[in-house]
Amino acid sequence: MDPAHLTLWSADGPNRVIHGNNLPVISALPDESFRLIYLDPPFNTGRTQQRQAITTKRSSDGARTGFQGRSYETIKGTLTKYDDTFADYWAFLEPRLIEAWRLLDDRGTLYLHLDFRESHYAKVILDALFGRQNFLNEIIWAYDYGARATKKWPSKHDTILVYVKNPATYFFDNAAVDREPYMAPGLVTAEKAARGKLPTDVWWHTIVSPTGREKTGYATQKPEGIIRRIIQASSAPGDWVLDFFAGSGTTGAVAGQLDRRFLLVDENPEAIAVMRQRLEGRATFS
Ligand SMILES: C[S@@+](CC[C@H](N)C(=O)[O-])C[C@H]1O[C@@H](n2cnc3c(N)ncnc32)[C@H](O)[C@@H]1O
Repeated sequence: MDPAHLTLWSADGPNRVIHGNNLPVISALPDESFRLIYLDPPFNTGRTQQRQAITTKRSSDGARTGFQGRSYETIKGTLTKYDDTFADYWAFLEPRLIEAWRLLDDRGTLYLHLDFRESHYAKVILDALFGRQNFLNEIIWAYDYGARATKKWPSKHDTILVYVKNPATYFFDNAAVDREPYMAPGLVTAEKAARGKLPTDVWWHTIVSPTGREKTGYATQKPEGIIRRIIQASSAPGDWVLDFFAGSGTTGAVAGQLDRRFLLVDENPEAIAVMRQRLEGRATFS
């Protein structure tokens, strides 16, 4: 643990944005400090030349009760043996997801935002790390924008995997979530139609508009509406929210609007510059 990082964040401190490689930063944070973790990692990490040895350190004190022991090693060993891309992806993501698991409190939830090229890999990792019984949802974010493939069905969705730290105690408040219009309002009472319906696990939502107010210019920026639902359902005002692939800081922007506290990490100076503008006055930067 690097003691320098320990002084960068404390539960009674301000909202914070940290510039740096996320793994050493999050490794230094105390156990069970966050109610909600939202992650939108890059798929192509460019780290194929620096592959780590694929090993899992299992703690002898049995603290990682969510891990599935031998079956995990078997799945990983078999899959990584045959697929280099998978091995590289696993080597990058696995230690970060292990930290995410450690950092969630007993009522905590992880949302892992992925695209269709990677979600099946990540689900295998998360089933192994959190336990299959801790899988809550696969959310499909469907949008309709941009070029259309003609030789296959155009891919117009992302996948968000949701895992909880403890299936008996996790926080979930769907009453706090913004409701959405019924697809066929004529089929329900006028009162119901006016109130709208609770979202399901399929979320139709536009991408960040190239000309809209939200646009920061950061290429991988996600819509506030998507993060808003996540934060409303899986945290309460005052809770700590962590995003260590923060990009343009969408998680921090929404967490701030909803009176949650936030810690963001990104290694890209461009991301930090965007967040300085977007979160000005609402976070401390280091
Ligand atoms: C897909 S983007 C996140 C976009 C974000 N959700 C938003 O709405 O703007 C992924 C981010 O992860 C960051 N990143 C990738 N590897 C990292 C690492 N090892 N440590 C910290 N940040 C990293 C990249 O710089 C990039 O900004």
